[in-house]
Amino acid sequence: MMASSRRLHTLWRKDETTLRGRVLLKVGGSLNGQHLDSITTVLSELHRLKVPVVLVHGGGPRITAALKEAGIQAPFVDGQRVTTIEAMDIVERVLAKEVNQELVMALANSGFRTIGMSGADDILHATGVAGLGRVGQVTRVNPTPVLKRLDDGLLPVIAPIGVGEGQERYNINADLAAGALAGAIEASRIVFLTDVPGIYSDFAAQELLHLTTKAEVLRLQSEGRFEAGMIPKVNAVLSTLSAGVGAAYVVHGADADAMLWAVTSQFHEARDSRLGTRVIA
Ligand SMILES: Nc1ncnc2c1ncn2[C@@H]1O[C@H](COP(=O)(O)OP(=O)(O)OP(=O)(O)O)[C@@H](O)[C@H]1O
Ligand SMILES: [Mg+2]
Repeated sequence: MMASSRRLHTLWRKDETTLRGRVLLKVGGSLNGQHLDSITTVLSELHRLKVPVVLVHGGGPRITAALKEAGIQAPFVDGQRVTTIEAMDIVERVLAKEVNQELVMALANSGFRTIGMSGADDILHATGVAGLGRVGQVTRVNPTPVLKRLDDGLLPVIAPIGVGEGQERYNINADLAAGALAGAIEASRIVFLTDVPGIYSDFAAQELLHLTTKAEVLRLQSEGRFEAGMIPKVNAVLSTLSAGVGAAYVVHGADADAMLWAVTSQFHEARDSRLGTRVIA
């Protein structure tokens, strides 16, 4: 694993952005495990560079399958899944138990010192979004439990569950959870690993945004260029940049080159603009 990341290095150059501060990596549920090799390469590199990393994961397809098996309907509205109280039990089980533990175990097997956490454990405080049942929006983030784990030299792996004032649980879109947490831990960058190579300015033509700004993304958003899961992802990008995170990247989670570019600002000469999307304020 270290050997492969070293090999990649011979083709890499650093760009103008220097690497410092914490990195938040959001692992898309859409990846369904495709990211395990590339993420191991990237985490090894970050470990070598002594960069603290926090992981937040989604679980879209796994939740869909579990709800279907239970015979529960959960339609999507603007890229977010309408979540009844009954559905919420399943969402929490799948995210905070199954997907979280699987990721923690896979990383532990690759030699990382990880700790699984749920946002509901006094990290992501939330309230319901009108009309979406137990879909929550983050009202406050308590970064302390996460920062403590980082101080202990651990890699926190966090499920996007929120907790309300009455201890009730909320289904927080993983991108929005990651964006809020990145601001609260004062991350220098956030990297969204997903199942597309970046943000398309034109989905049908697969025209990829490479180096772009909040203003351009806002303009494309007002033109309705983003659909489905890209709606909350773009909102997370915009809000996390407003919260002071220096850069937000969207790259394919099975593409180790693109991920190394996103986490270290080192770019691959032969790949340049096909690496993915970087948005800065
Ligand atoms: N303009 C766009 N550019 C890129 N992707 C887009 C765009 N509009 C819609 N999408 C869709 O957004 C999807 C990514 O969001 P999605 O929520 O499905 O994945 P994820 O966030 O990685 O996974 P999870 O939500 O489970 O954590 C892509 O697979 C793509 O189909
Ligand atoms: Mg998503």
